[in-house]
Amino acid sequence: MNTSRIGIWLIGAKGGVGGTALLGLTALQKGLIDKAGLVSELRQFTAANLADWGRFVVAGHEIRRIPLAEAVERFTAENRMIDPKLVAACRGELEQIDRRIRPGTIRNVGQAIAALADADLPQEKSPREIIARLRGDFQAFLDAEKLDHLIVVNVASTEPPAPNPPPPSWSELDAAFDDPQSTLPASTLYAIAALGAGYSYVNFTPSLGSAPAAVDELARRSDTRHYGCDGKTGETLMKSVLAPMFARRNLQVLSWVGHNIFGNMDARVLDDPANKQSKVVSKDRLVREILGYAPKTIVSLENLPDLGDWKTAWDHIHFQGFLGLPMTLQFIWHGSDSILAAPLVLDLIRFTELAHRRRHVGPMPFLASFFKSPYGVSDHNFERQFQMLEGWVGIAAG
Ligand SMILES: NC(=O)c1ccc[n+]([C@@H]2O[C@H](COP(=O)([O-])OP(=O)(O)OC[C@H]3O[C@@H](n4cnc5c(N)ncnc54)[C@H](O)[C@@H]3O)[C@@H](O)[C@H]2O)c1
Repeated sequence: MNTSRIGIWLIGAKGGVGGTALLGLTALQKGLIDKAGLVSELRQFTAANLADWGRFVVAGHEIRRIPLAEAVERFTAENRMIDPKLVAACRGELEQIDRRIRPGTIRNVGQAIAALADADLPQEKSPREIIARLRGDFQAFLDAEKLDHLIVVNVASTEPPAPNPPPPSWSELDAAFDDPQSTLPASTLYAIAALGAGYSYVNFTPSLGSAPAAVDELARRSDTRHYGCDGKTGETLMKSVLAPMFARRNLQVLSWVGHNIFGNMDARVLDDPANKQSKVVSKDRLVREILGYAPKTIVSLENLPDLGDWKTAWDHIHFQGFLGLPMTLQFIWHGSDSILAAPLVLDLIRFTELAHRRRHVGPMPFLASFFKSPYGVSDHNFERQFQMLEGWVGIAAG
């Protein structure tokens, strides 16, 4: 049995999703919670020999100095989402993780994210210097903990769309790293730092990350793997389950409106129109792509600070049936954003670790069911995406 330890590196480790994932991982390692909400704990994956929770060691990058345990305590108390006794029981482990969290970079992240950052972050001149520092942080963690692989997961705030498309080949992108005017955003610099060193990279956010073709080329050259983007956790998950039903019954969707209201730090960042643009694009395209035609769609995201992490999505679907009769489906989804997202982050880490053992190289399309905008997969039908995962894991299990 493989008992080696595996490194997890969370970018944005002290946020709602990052902190909740770390609390959950600690609680799993201490046997304090059951496995509800974890996809990788489903019965069909038991034969796959996924890594035990106890084998993971965590570190990360952040741009805020607040201690991790305090961030988790405040967040879970303000949102009344987790028993304070559970948080207290995990405090010691969260403090240990905190000692391994390093200052990140806010290069080209836009005003809304830069405003969250503490003032004393390192200020390198060029992307090359930033990548070298981030990679040095990874290496120091691997050396200190005697780990042979690292899975880097981006759970940081959503960046605005990048203004210029990066050059298509790795050699051209690499040549531009000394340019202090480069517009490459932080999410892509983290991805390059990880993939260039041979580590796995997963982008849970709509930010650019490892999406550019040149970064995929780097991953393949380094014999490693990556995937994204934007975790599919709530309203969009419902869309990917319901839209195939309308398609199968030949019910013509006339319009699909989704209003989302929430008030956590993610909502605050997404209140900036530039950052919101990345998220709306990611949430909007899926209905069109599943149906094969373009009904009128509206996606709105509104920041209501009093709601905190509790997101309400109201969807109104107007559709036409036999003899031209228009009808309506409405649903209301009310969930804690971070409680929905955190287990998926942990599942992605376990499946990516299996992909590492299987020496999988390049994008990981078998993880499509976890994402709103899965790289290179145009089939947004949740059931078929999930069958891809089952099929791939089945092969892994032999
Ligand atoms: N259900 C969900 O919550 C969900 C679903 C899909 C995607 N996402 C995405 O996951 C991300 C995290 O969501 P959240 O609710 O935890 O947000 P959050 O604002 O609570 O946390 C983000 C964290 O990232 C840190 N950060 C920001 N920029 C950074 C950088 N450049 N380097 C290092 N750290 C940085 C922030 O300080 C903060 O601690 C967002 O991009 C969000 O859109 C969340």
